[in-house]
Amino acid sequence: KLRIGVLASGRGSNLQAIMDQCAAGQLPAEVVVVISDKPGAYALERAKGAGIAAYSVVYKDFASKAEYEQAIVRLLEQYQVQLVCLAGYMRLVGEPLLQAFPNRIMNIHPALLPSFPGLHGQRDALNYGVKISGCTVHFVDEGMDTGPIILQAAVPVLDDDTEETLAARILEQEHKLYPAAIKLFAEGRLEIQGRRVLVKDKE
Ligand code: GAR
Repeated sequence: KLRIGVLASGRGSNLQAIMDQCAAGQLPAEVVVVISDKPGAYALERAKGAGIAAYSVVYKDFASKAEYEQAIVRLLEQYQVQLVCLAGYMRLVGEPLLQAFPNRIMNIHPALLPSFPGLHGQRDALNYGVKISGCTVHFVDEGMDTGPIILQAAVPVLDDDTEETLAARILEQEHKLYPAAIKLFAEGRLEIQGRRVLVKDKE
C-alpha cells in the first residue's frame, strides 16, 4: 500500500475524502501522517479521529523557511511517506520538500489551472466572469500552482452563484478528483513527459 502524508492548513474535507476512500478499500493507499502549519486546524482532529498520527509544525517556531520545511521532511521520512498530498495547505512549497519528494508531491486547486492560481481560486473565477470553472490536481513544482496537471474536473458557474455556492459545487468534485489522481499514482500509471502527465492503461 502506498504510504501517504497529508499537509493541510484547515478544515480537511479533502483529507477526509482520501481517508474514507482508503478505509473503504477503494484506494491501494493509506494516510500514515497528517501535518498542519495551523495547530487548530480541524484536519488534525479528523486524523486523530481516524487513529492517524497528527502533528502541527508552526512556521514561526523556526528561524527560516528552510528549517521549517526540514522539520516537515523529517516527519514525512520518519513515517516512510511515499506520496505527499497537499490538501488545503496554504503555503508555497520550497526546496527542502521538493528535493526530498521529487515528483511525489500533489496539490488540489479549486480552479481550472492555469487560470486563477493562488489563495482565492473560486472568488477570482467568479469575479472574472467565466462560465465554467472546476478543480485541478497537479504535481507540485517551485511555482505557485504551476506544476504538471494530472486531472481536472469542470463545473458550471451559475448566475446566482456566490463565492460560497461555487466553492461548494467545486468541492464536491474535489472529493472525487483527488482520490482518483492518487489511485492512478498508486497504480504506477502516471508518466510525466515535460509538462504533460500521461495516464497509462492498466496492466
Ligand atoms: C479546497 O477547496 C482546496 O482546493 C483549496 O482549499 C480548500 C481546502 O478545503 N486549496 C487552495 O485554495 C490551495 N491554494 P479542505 O481543507 O476542506 O480540504
